Amino acid sequence: MNILKFLPATILFLNLNCTEDPTGTIKPGEIWPDNNGVHINAHGGGILIHNKTYYWFGEHKTEGKAGNRANVGVHVYSSTNLTDWKDEGIALKVIEDDENHDITKGCVLERPKVIYNKATKKFVMWFHLELKGQGYKAARTGLAVADNVTGPYTFIKSLRPNAGQWPVNFSEEQKKAEYDYVMNRWTAEGRKAVKNGMYLKRDFEGGQMSRDMTLFVDDDKKAYHIAASEENSTLHIRELTYDYLDFTGKYVRVFPDESNEAPAIFKKDGKYYMFASGCTGWAPNPGRSAVANNIVGPWISLGNPFKGTQEEMKVSFHSQSTYVIPVMGKKDAFIYMGDRWVPDNAIDGRYIWLPVDFENGKPKIKWYKEWDLSIFD
Ligand code: GAL
Repeated sequence: MNILKFLPATILFLNLNCTEDPTGTIKPGEIWPDNNGVHINAHGGGILIHNKTYYWFGEHKTEGKAGNRANVGVHVYSSTNLTDWKDEGIALKVIEDDENHDITKGCVLERPKVIYNKATKKFVMWFHLELKGQGYKAARTGLAVADNVTGPYTFIKSLRPNAGQWPVNFSEEQKKAEYDYVMNRWTAEGRKAVKNGMYLKRDFEGGQMSRDMTLFVDDDKKAYHIAASEENSTLHIRELTYDYLDFTGKYVRVFPDESNEAPAIFKKDGKYYMFASGCTGWAPNPGRSAVANNIVGPWISLGNPFKGTQEEMKVSFHSQSTYVIPVMGKKDAFIYMGDRWVPDNAIDGRYIWLPVDFENGKPKIKWYKEWDLSIFD
């Protein structure tokens, strides 16, 4: 038999096997090609699990510094194994022909998250929105809805939530306090005022600021919108209405004046866990974690979840949290999903995905250069 005759077919077979490998590996920080060989473009993302498929929604970035703004929209990919991702196109497109539209091309549209409402059969996307040309002043959250998971999503509205409503955990004394809004926020006096809700009071009538955000659907199907508010000093956990298209008005302040952003929430054994970061823009900082028996708190800090050298822990393996993925078909298997931002060439941002470990009831994230889902077995 002439072996050489069969060699090309064998090579082709092996190649095909490689690309279709159901147990591919995850290489944090490396270029991550999609089904077309193009680096995945879904930053500040989140995952929706629907019909046994993972859908990864994220910010579509473009080249250069200007690529941090929304020039295209929200990109979506699908996968059944978390390693091979199919480009499903742009789920929500920015508006090209109306300069005054909330999501006009060149606005800032960040951290989109999608949840599915079983009762209305709608896919609901909330995101952080900054109006074009206003820097990060607007601090709004935007809503878009679709009938199909991959879209097209239709923009519905953007707003500052909970106008005219007090948080559940706000005392009568805090409601009555008067503030000198021009005082230095970083003095001891300023910090005390912020902790007591100075910015919340300032924004009471117009609605609360809403920047870095995530969504969380609980087992009872109630959904929550979790965002950095009050000039990024304080997280707000806000209950959404039954259709997920609005706020019920019930919300809590979490970690007032502790400057948390990039929140990501998951639930394990009836407890709620949160990852977050400090506020240093695109630059990484020491990550944070917290636990609660109830989604609305009280939340208890569990410190930096990253476990490595001091240098690695200071920068969270050079990443910032964005979501935690519950792995289908595996018990207690969760993946930390973080962004390694490249602000000077936004499109080159990388993804840091690492398994979440538990040590003495605390979630821990260790570095793996290359790993696969068998780590959870
Ligand atoms: C980060 C935030 C990002 C983006 C960036 C802009 O702190 O997490 O989503 O808003 O700031 O500087």
